[in-house]
Amino acid sequence: MTKLNQKNSEKNIKWHNLTIDRRKLERMRGHKGMVIWFTGLSGSGKSTLANAVNEVLHSEGLSTYVLDGDNIRHGLCKDLGFSDEDREENIRRIGEVANLFMNAGIITITAFVSPFISDRNKVRKIVGSADFIEVHCAANIDVCESRDTKGLYKKARLGEIKDFTGISSPYEAPESAEIVVDTGSLDLNDSVQKVINYLKEKDLLYGI
Ligand code: ADX
Repeated sequence: MTKLNQKNSEKNIKWHNLTIDRRKLERMRGHKGMVIWFTGLSGSGKSTLANAVNEVLHSEGLSTYVLDGDNIRHGLCKDLGFSDEDREENIRRIGEVANLFMNAGIITITAFVSPFISDRNKVRKIVGSADFIEVHCAANIDVCESRDTKGLYKKARLGEIKDFTGISSPYEAPESAEIVVDTGSLDLNDSVQKVINYLKEKDLLYGI
């Protein structure tokens, strides 16, 4: 098997510059590409909030796409489980895919537990800090467990699911996320507004 850390030059692979590049695609769409990265415990409202933010941006005529944890694990990442190593690989792949979408000028919205600071920071590095907006869905474990929308916390407590985030596997909260939404107490509309307000205040939605 080829060594994963072999240099590209050693593998005879060269970067090809495309003439229809990111800037042209952004100009065509009328806005910048970026990655809005939702992180939080299972049941913290990431997917719901990501979807609702997407609805608002889409209705404004912006080019958007949502990459969602449970959905991506049906396809691109269906070979991965929930060990630390598999989560790392999951987030690495999503980071690369999100970067590609962003380079197509798309506002790329992701909803993954992404429990490890180091993995999220690697994605921030791939994407570039200026274009990476980390949103912490900060509902705490008690709230998420009491909601238990998918019945997974119950199973995890019974030992039927191992390595479950917040129960038998850690969640490392962001230390300096661009946006923190208390999805444990805010309702959905207010949560959406908080994200949209940030994007407008930073002048990220129009004017390229
Ligand atoms: S991540 O940790 O690798 O980022 P990801 O967001 O893709 O996780 O998938 C999390 C989803 O898988 C959860 O929303 C939950 O529905 C489901 N799931 C199944 N098993 C686990 C587990 N052991 N820990 C966390 N989530 C799990």
